[in-house]
Amino acid sequence: MKFAFFDAKPYDKPSFEKYGGENGIKFKYFETKLNEDTVELAAGYDGVCVFVNDTVNAAVIDRLYEMGVKVVALRCAGFNNVDMKHAFGRVHVLRVPAYSPYAVAEHTMAMLLTSIRRIHKAYIRTRDFNFSLAGMTGFDLHGKTVGVIGTGRIGRVFIDICRGFGMKVLAYDKFPIDGLADGDKIRYVGLDELFRNSDIISLHCPLTEETYHVIDAEAIEKCKRGVVILNTSRGALVDAEALLSGIKSRKVGAACLDVYEEESDIFFEDFSGHIIEDDTLARLISMPNVIVTSHQAFLTEEALSNIAETTVGNIKTFFERGQCENELCFRCGSAEDCKSGKCF
Ligand code: NAI
Repeated sequence: MKFAFFDAKPYDKPSFEKYGGENGIKFKYFETKLNEDTVELAAGYDGVCVFVNDTVNAAVIDRLYEMGVKVVALRCAGFNNVDMKHAFGRVHVLRVPAYSPYAVAEHTMAMLLTSIRRIHKAYIRTRDFNFSLAGMTGFDLHGKTVGVIGTGRIGRVFIDICRGFGMKVLAYDKFPIDGLADGDKIRYVGLDELFRNSDIISLHCPLTEETYHVIDAEAIEKCKRGVVILNTSRGALVDAEALLSGIKSRKVGAACLDVYEEESDIFFEDFSGHIIEDDTLARLISMPNVIVTSHQAFLTEEALSNIAETTVGNIKTFFERGQCENELCFRCGSAEDCKSGKCF
């Protein structure tokens, strides 16, 4: 089996070579992202292997279909970059539903602690032998309230971590999890109450039409003054312009962003020495209370290994059995994992 691997990075190759080699799947690595301009590179391959910022829209799907490319193997969990409706009946879309919720949840807490304890400032200061503590006052997490939007795999690990710090949790999910609520310690509430009563808000839901800009100007208006906003999920959950206004007006106390609305042409690439055209991102990065990482939350050795193992397993299972439990299917539900494997 031959797969065209788009948006390849040096850290992808070792684990994909290992698991691909063991299972007879050959990957051809392309540094470019998949989109309408690059889709021709997939000619002659059995499938494409793509990541979060590859574009699998209707035009790309049509061309893959015409070229006889049957499988889109996502090496990630989110699939907002795939036109699932259009994919139905044309290409099979496989994904890695979970690879390490700990990687993302731990990164979220790392960003939060860095921000509120000013570690990013201290690191730079002491390297310059500046041992002053002026402007370094933080606050305790113990006793604070964190609002968690999305209580799936990652959200629940993040809740566990927050509980370890002695924080109270207000949770919101379209499909609340039975048994998660725990008296005053963890309470499911409506979004309004979550916005009004949280000191920190962390996003762990998928990007859908419903969750697009879930943090917008109106939501920020409802928040406590000084709220800390954490987004390690998908950029467009937050209206970046509204966030910037909230920071300028001092309503938002800090923001930690591992994802950004317009990240697809910027993140994962080295732009040092270049002029960044995106004024909103540049202004956000210039703020002392904003920390941006470049969609890095997933990047642990354990996650990379699990991603490669599951992606290769998905491809192998699909070609052997004609179905795979990690196939996404629009017909089974609103783009949920295919339960029957017989929809296509
Ligand atoms: P999951 O599927 O286990 O959990 C998502 C939760 O969101 C579910 O409980 C679901 O019911 C809930 N949800 C769905 N629609 C909602 C809505 N309209 N409002 C509120 N909640 C809603 O997914 P998991 O593994 O926890 O991942 C969460 C998100 O994290 C992914 O969708 C992905 O976008 C992001 N992610 C980011 C990574 C990074 O490197 N920054 C890596 C992996 C995932």
